[in-house]
Amino acid sequence: MTALLDVKDLQRHFDGVRAVDGVSFEVQPHEVVSIIGPNGSGKTTTLNLVTGTIPAHGGTIALDGARIDHAKTVDIAEHGIARTFQNGRVFATLSVADNIEVGIHSQLHAHRPFRRLSHVFLLRWIPLLAELFVAVFGTPAARRERAEIDRVIDREVDRFESRLGPRRDDPAYTLSYANRRRTEIARALALQPKLLVLDEPTAGMNQSETAEVLAQLLELKAAGQAILLVEHKLDLVMTVSDRVIVMDGGRIIAEGDPQSVRTDPAVIEAYLGRRRETPGSDSGEEGPA
Ligand SMILES: Nc1ncnc2c1ncn2[C@@H]1O[C@H](COP(=O)(O)OP(=O)(O)OP(=O)(O)O)[C@@H](O)[C@H]1O
Ligand SMILES: [Mg+2]
Repeated sequence: MTALLDVKDLQRHFDGVRAVDGVSFEVQPHEVVSIIGPNGSGKTTTLNLVTGTIPAHGGTIALDGARIDHAKTVDIAEHGIARTFQNGRVFATLSVADNIEVGIHSQLHAHRPFRRLSHVFLLRWIPLLAELFVAVFGTPAARRERAEIDRVIDREVDRFESRLGPRRDDPAYTLSYANRRRTEIARALALQPKLLVLDEPTAGMNQSETAEVLAQLLELKAAGQAILLVEHKLDLVMTVSDRVIVMDGGRIIAEGDPQSVRTDPAVIEAYLGRRRETPGSDSGEEGPA
């Protein structure tokens, strides 16, 4: 069986810091894989490489057997990887609905005629003019596509109905922090990605908000969604993951099912070592990752 995501010997350094140093792992179709590890161990950098946010300095990444390690972020998204960011990124002045719509912008056809020409410098004006024409006059195809966009927005708002439903047309800057993060997840899911990549989706959330996100992740998992998750809250990680990868110093130091990773001496050492260095950093619920 071809792995959904196949990462081999991934490398990335920053001014001599080996942020990701020979990382290899796979995510199978429908699998939920979590990456945990202490601060600065290379988790976010790994996600940035997989999603094409930054280029790798070595190694290969394949999605469904096709290499994506030199592809542009937008093409990777179109191939089926959607993500959220550690610090949460939504467009503050856009409404919840418009933020979700942004997620599927790359997939629009009728609203973006001749979009392939936008890559050709001298011919960029053609798709711009054509987009303007469609926006002003409309076409039957654009109206059908508009209905489809609205259906996708409804589907994603419904996913977080009690939270985002009443906020659908509110600008993102008026939302609570948790609702901004939900909007970001909804935007990623709008693409119906093959692989959903989440960087600390519950960071800054309280216990009940975290429990809500866990319930949503379990629902996605039950529906067969493959997920690559970076998360500090170990209870959540252990509940939702099929497999856990532990990073330290840019390398994978352990990998396996949640139970075996939890009792792995190398993992305990990496965690307990940091814990002694940063007394008071452990809140009990959160791991020191
Ligand atoms: N853009 C950058 N420029 C310079 N150094 C960077 C950059 N991004 C990451 N690093 C460094 O790479 C290493 C790994 O960082 P990364 O953000 O991947 O860690 P992390 O495991 O996600 O940590 P955290 O749990 O705190 O989010 C760190 O030493 C970090 O300082
Ligand atoms: Mg990080």
